Amino acid sequence: MPETLVSEVGGKVGEAVELKGWVHNFRSSGSIFFLQLRDGTGRVQVVYSKAEVPEQVWAGLQTLTIESSVLVTGTVKAEPRSPSGVELSGSGLTVVSVAAEYPIGKKDHGPDFLLNNRHLWIRSARQEAILRIRNEIAFAMREFFYERGFINTDSPIFTPNAVEGTTDLFEVKYFDDKAYLSQSGQLYLEATSAALRKTYCFGPTFRSEKSKTRRHLTEFWMLEAEAAFMDWEENIQLQEDMMVFILRRVLDRRAADLKTLERDTKTLETSAQGKFPRIHYTDAVAQLQKLGSDMKDGDDFGGDDETILTKQYDRPIFIHHYPAAIKAFYMKPDPADPVHVLNNDMLAPEGYGEVIGGSQRIDDLALLEQRIAEHQLPPAAFQWYLDLRRYGSVPHSGFGIGLERAVAWICGLEHVRETIPFPRLLNRLTP
Ligand code: 4AD
Ligand code: MG
Repeated sequence: MPETLVSEVGGKVGEAVELKGWVHNFRSSGSIFFLQLRDGTGRVQVVYSKAEVPEQVWAGLQTLTIESSVLVTGTVKAEPRSPSGVELSGSGLTVVSVAAEYPIGKKDHGPDFLLNNRHLWIRSARQEAILRIRNEIAFAMREFFYERGFINTDSPIFTPNAVEGTTDLFEVKYFDDKAYLSQSGQLYLEATSAALRKTYCFGPTFRSEKSKTRRHLTEFWMLEAEAAFMDWEENIQLQEDMMVFILRRVLDRRAADLKTLERDTKTLETSAQGKFPRIHYTDAVAQLQKLGSDMKDGDDFGGDDETILTKQYDRPIFIHHYPAAIKAFYMKPDPADPVHVLNNDMLAPEGYGEVIGGSQRIDDLALLEQRIAEHQLPPAAFQWYLDLRRYGSVPHSGFGIGLERAVAWICGLEHVRETIPFPRLLNRLTP
C-alpha cells in the first residue's frame, strides 16, 4: 500500500493508503474507535469499526495512549464535517511504540509548564502552525534576496568587538583570550558588500538584554542586508518590498496555518499592498504627545510608545531620522540636519512595534573615527572596519529584520517565546 502524508489525503478519496504518525487523540464508543492521527503534515480522523477489522487490530487500538506512534492503513472517504474534508475508514494498525502518560493534556497549562515541556509542546497544532509560518518567512526572505542579486555571506558568531553598544554582549572564553557572541553581523556585511555589492547574512544573534518583555529573546535570528551605493531612502524601499514579498507568500501558502491560529488576516492583507507611511522622528514624537505620551523630543521610543503609535495605522510604518545621540555609532548624520541620522525603524501594526532597524552608514573616515572615540569603543578593534573607509569608501546602507518579531506579528502572538523552536530568555536556558 502506498505511504501517504496527511497533507495529501484530500486528493485521494476512494484510495487505500498507509499513514505513519502519532495518536493525537482518541475516543471509543463501544464498537467504533475514533483515532485522531497527526503525522507532522496535518491531522486526520481514522474511524475503525469492530465488526469490520481483524481482532488483533481492535486489540491493538485498546493499547493506544496519546502520542503513541503508529502505522495506519485505511480507505480515504469524503467527510464534509471534517476540517480537511476527509477521514479514513481504518483497516490496519501497527503500534510502533506505546507512549507513557503524556504530560500535556487538554486543560490549560501555564506558560512555565509549557516552556519546561517545550520539546513536547511543539507537537501541538498551534505550535506546528507557527513553526511552519516561521519556515515560510525565512525561506521567502532568502528567495527575495536571491532574486534581487544579493549574495549570502554569513558573518561570524565569535567576534572581538561590539556593534550595537557594549552593554548587552555575551562574553565567552576563547582559548587564552575572550570573545563576544555576535549581536549583529553588520560590520562584516559592510566588508562583503564592498566585495560583492549586495550581500546579506542570516543567523543567530545574541544579546544579554535584561529586558523581560514580550519582544526580547537573548538568542534570536536576524537577517541583515547591506548594499554599496544604496542610500537610506532606497534602503527603506527595499525593506518595504521585502515585507510585501513575505506577506504575500505567507497569505498564499500558509492560509491553513493562519486559520489554525485564528489569525484575523485583514491587516496582513492591507499591509501586503505596500505604501507604508514614512514618518520623521520629530513628527512621530509630536503625534505621540498628542496621544498622551510623556515622551520628549530626543528620547527613544519605549515599547508602549511604539504600541500606541502603530495602533494608529493599518499597516507597518517607517520612522526615520532619529536623534544621533540615541543611536549606534555607525549611523550617518543627515548632512542638512546633523542632529538626526539617516536611519529608520519599521514598526509593525496592531501594537507590535519595531521589527526592523536600518540606516545609511558613515562613509567618511574622520567622522567615523570621531564617533568610535565618542562611544568609547576600542579603536584597535575597529581598524579593519575603518579600512573600508580608507580603500574606496562609498555611500552604503543596510538593515536587520528580527525573524521572531516578524513571526510574532504575522502569527498574531502575545509573546516572541512561541516563535522559535527553543526560546532563550533571561530566565530560561532549557530544554
Ligand atoms: O535594531 P537592531 O539592534 O539593529 C541592528 O542590529 C543593526 N546592526 C541591523 C543592521 O542595520 N544591519 O536590531 C535589528 C532587529 C530589531 O528591529 C528587532 O527586530 C530584532 O533585530 N531584535 C530582537 N529580536 C528579538 N529579541 C531581541 N532581544 C532583539 N533585539 C533586536
Ligand atoms: Mg533597533
